[in-house]
Amino acid sequence: SAAERHFKYVILGGGVSAGYAAREFAKLGLNPGELAIVSKESVAPYERPALSKGYLFPQDAARLPGFHVCVGSGGERLLPAWYSEKGSLSLVIIPSLLLDGIELMLNTEIVKADLASKTLTSETDVNFKYDNLVIATGSQFVNLSDVGVQGANANNIFYLRDIDDADKLVAAIQSKKGGKAVIVGGGYIGLELGAALKINSFDVTMVYPDPWCSELHCYHKLLQLQNRMECELWCLSCTLENLSHAGRLVSSEPDRFRCTELSIELIVLDGLTKSSVSRRQVILVPRLFTPEIASFYEGYYANKGIKIVKGTVAAGFDSNSIGDVTAVRLKDGQILEADIVVVGVGGKPLVTLFKGQVKEEKGGIKTDGFFRTSISDVYAVGDVATFPLKLYGEDRRVEHVDHARRSAEHAVKAIKAAEESRSIEEYDYLPYFYSRVFDLSWQFYGDNVGDTVLFGDNDPKSANPKFGAYWIKDSKVVGAFLESGSPEENKLIAKVAKLQPPVQDLEQLREDGLTFASNV
Ligand code: FDA
Ligand code: NAD
Repeated sequence: SAAERHFKYVILGGGVSAGYAAREFAKLGLNPGELAIVSKESVAPYERPALSKGYLFPQDAARLPGFHVCVGSGGERLLPAWYSEKGSLSLVIIPSLLLDGIELMLNTEIVKADLASKTLTSETDVNFKYDNLVIATGSQFVNLSDVGVQGANANNIFYLRDIDDADKLVAAIQSKKGGKAVIVGGGYIGLELGAALKINSFDVTMVYPDPWCSELHCYHKLLQLQNRMECELWCLSCTLENLSHAGRLVSSEPDRFRCTELSIELIVLDGLTKSSVSRRQVILVPRLFTPEIASFYEGYYANKGIKIVKGTVAAGFDSNSIGDVTAVRLKDGQILEADIVVVGVGGKPLVTLFKGQVKEEKGGIKTDGFFRTSISDVYAVGDVATFPLKLYGEDRRVEHVDHARRSAEHAVKAIKAAEESRSIEEYDYLPYFYSRVFDLSWQFYGDNVGDTVLFGDNDPKSANPKFGAYWIKDSKVVGAFLESGSPEENKLIAKVAKLQPPVQDLEQLREDGLTFASNV
């Protein structure tokens, strides 16, 4: 019969949210043996963003225990021993009775969740019973073999989500040094990995499709303007149909669309609106980068010697007799030689364990402003949570580290407050995203909707390029982006995005640039 363990609190997942939640539990008071973290990873929670940056440096690479949480936000570093010590503190008077503080159950994959009986079952048939559950399972990458790309199981085709993935990639970087790398995808992973492989002296080619995401984003706005009229998004014939990361762009039901090489078509079901646009602009990070921002990074990458193939997708892979990848076949017929391929074509939140048991929305688990799901005593945080973004009056899911940290802390505060019959404020989040590649570093705060105004020097050939952008909706600045800002300047753009100051003259805003932010 199955072994059984019981805990007052169980955190399912051992990533960023789990680590920050554990710290918050410890801060607010925890008795030994009350909290368990169940993680399929083999190491204690760490700052995941390091994996696509410092972890891949050719010299002085970041390694654990250097980047365990919570160093990424300037906090205490929780080494594995912290978990067993924490919560035991109240027992210092009787050290012989030292129980485990927080139980960190590594290498433990949960394969079944039964929310009705408050039970999680592991692969090795251990039942974890809980009083309160925090779901922090994060995301998994979209796998090209799952979407029918032929040959995608060849050796040396890498994805990046956890430290095991990163270790495999590091080994290949060392063994294929100086070889050819193809990066499939032009999102966050694509951009950061393209830079990382270039720094490791690879001959790098990046490939990604037209900016269907960004253009869909325009439609997303259109739908909002039309009061979320029921609609379908059509974008005929691309391999991307039904990918979850595409669906999440669309706020209305049903989340369906099709993509063609040439156009994206939107049909509103009441028959009143039918429109389409050509896919003319190519944008590196759709959904956030405007064409002007993207052209800077594309130019910068080109100057570094990175080749960029746009407007097509990987259709298949060739491999040799021992199964190692040798080439990427593109849909437009081009063939790119490759010793290593890194794929970053989006993520999908890991919610399958809870399908049919809990309310979902926009691909995630629906929560309230305290991260409570539709089932009592069950919370969801980080990448998997679709929560009310108070500032914009709509439910959103955010796949970035700052939200993972804050949502985890907020959920724990809510759990503790409920126990003590106290109330706390609802989560009031200002979205914050960032990335770092080569000598560049950008930050973005707020919402990327409405008109955009670019300011500063975005010439990729400049010695010290520095530029930014504002997003303006209903005559208010709602979002702000800054490349190569100082810490003080980044604080300024955060303040603008939070306060949403009015603006009338967009030309003046362009001229004022950062001065506008400093006068707010
Ligand atoms: P996270 O993925 O961190 O943790 C989920 C945990 O659950 C993992 O430990 C997983 O193994 C575990 N798990 C899942 N299913 C399980 C099961 N059934 N049983 C047991 N355990 C299970 N963001 C940003 O703002 N700036 C950045 O620079 C970066 N950089 C970056 C690089 C890379 C390589 C990645 C993959 C991601 C980023 N991100 C980022 C995104 C950021 O890291 C991400 O949003 C957070 O890690 C989300 O935190 P979570 O705790 O929700 O998931
Ligand atoms: P993404 O959604 O940012 O980008 C996916 C990219 O793949 C898009 O450019 C898309 O056009 C492209 N694409 C889709 N299908 C393709 C195909 N068949 N061939 C070629 N290109 C294709 O996702 P990602 O970059 O894979 O990132 C995965 C997750 O990791 C996300 O949750 C992301 O937020 C997170 N992450 C964040 C950061 C950061 O915030 N700095 C860094 C790394 C990873």
